[in-house]
Amino acid sequence: MQTRKVNDFPKDFLWGASSAAFQIEGAAYEDGKGLSVMDVRKVKPEICDYSVASDHYHRYKEDIALMKECGLKAYRFSIAWTRIFPKGNGEVNQKGVDFYNDLINELIRNDIVPIVTIYHFEYPQGLVDQYGGWINRRSIEDYVNYAEFLFRTYGDRVKYWLTINEQDHVVHMPFRLGLTDDNRKEKEKLGFLANHNMCVAAALAIKKCHEIVEGGKIGPATCFEMMYPTTNNPADMLATMDAMEIRNYYLLDLNCRGEYNGTFRRYLEDRNMMPEIYPGDMEAMKENRPDFLAFNYYYSESISANPLDDEHEIGDIEFKLLPSKEAGIYKVVKNENLKATLWGWEIDDTGLQCSARLLYDRYRLPLLITECGFGNKEVWPEEGILEDDDRIDYLSRHIRAVKEAMNLGVDFIGFCCWSFIDLISGHSGFSKRYGFVYVNRDEHDLKDMARRKKKSFYWYKRVIETNGEEL
Ligand code: BG6
Repeated sequence: MQTRKVNDFPKDFLWGASSAAFQIEGAAYEDGKGLSVMDVRKVKPEICDYSVASDHYHRYKEDIALMKECGLKAYRFSIAWTRIFPKGNGEVNQKGVDFYNDLINELIRNDIVPIVTIYHFEYPQGLVDQYGGWINRRSIEDYVNYAEFLFRTYGDRVKYWLTINEQDHVVHMPFRLGLTDDNRKEKEKLGFLANHNMCVAAALAIKKCHEIVEGGKIGPATCFEMMYPTTNNPADMLATMDAMEIRNYYLLDLNCRGEYNGTFRRYLEDRNMMPEIYPGDMEAMKENRPDFLAFNYYYSESISANPLDDEHEIGDIEFKLLPSKEAGIYKVVKNENLKATLWGWEIDDTGLQCSARLLYDRYRLPLLITECGFGNKEVWPEEGILEDDDRIDYLSRHIRAVKEAMNLGVDFIGFCCWSFIDLISGHSGFSKRYGFVYVNRDEHDLKDMARRKKKSFYWYKRVIETNGEEL
């Protein structure tokens, strides 16, 4: 809806940026850190591993000084579970504890609010080796103990907590559970078992946070893919509704309402994938609601009906990393109205406004954008600075979408761009950059790792200075 006036951002809006430990820190084998599933994962030879990343572990002070210069109000980062508990449980690694104490103190000294993700993809390999990881009930206790340790150690200074990053993606990507990538159909079933355990664990961590952290606020950080019916054929609308339930809402309904919604329950039962529910599980979820809902938004999807045919049966799924086609339910198709990034992610700021409004209508929780950004191939020019106008355009549109959603009554806490400095992409190494600050390294040539401010750095600084007036 267009209105005569669009309200300003509130004064305390958290203008921030995001990262994840394994993608930014490096020092993967230093100071007692244990191995995570990301460390042991075999990457394609043309892509770098996570051992050095952006070397933030050694250069965090320099990076925070740049954040201060840019005017960041908040920094969302994750704690590497295996720096704290190298095996995932048992002995604590003091050097890891000290690192995050120093990082948090440095942020606070620079007036930057820390927003901490407890677990961002890097599950301890030690727990997979001990008992299979998230697919075993024992994982619940280990996650809760780890979270409790963080609350007791850092909760005097950290007031914003995120339980699990993109649990919905972990569920569908076996390697993130420490499982092999073969037999994906069987892995879907294990994924939903892991999902249940993660939901119980997250609910119990919320409880602990509320008990331990004075004034603490905690919520999930999900990935929300806005979905549109490709045509006005009612069958496409139905397919879109189904896809939204089984790809987006299934998890948030568990996290925020403590329930398996009807469509999702039927979906799981029909495919013999319903996990066993133990006494107290659903109560734990119902009784421990998050304080806010964080979500990562990058693109939208166009959905068409995908009726069963002679070649496909119920349960047949095709993946493009995530499920992209399910027989008898839906398929993702190209949206002819949108441009896409080099990786085919369809750029859609309207989809962000739609997502925010849908989420707020359904859960009535304040929202926080924990990731939104533009990945690109970039090389620092021989003269001048890197002019990343596409990134500026992308972010400017997406921030405006948040402003418009707020104008219509959606409650937003803040907006954290992905990312502040360049870091390793989840699937494309260092060839897909997201930062406002260029890190001078290539896929395999580490060069000098110097930090260089791109044009977007100055743009974001101005956005923050004007509290979103100038986009
Ligand atoms: C989110 C993740 O899925 O998207 C990040 O939380 C990830 O870890 C980001 O880096 C962007 O994805 P990619 O594959 O472009 O790095």
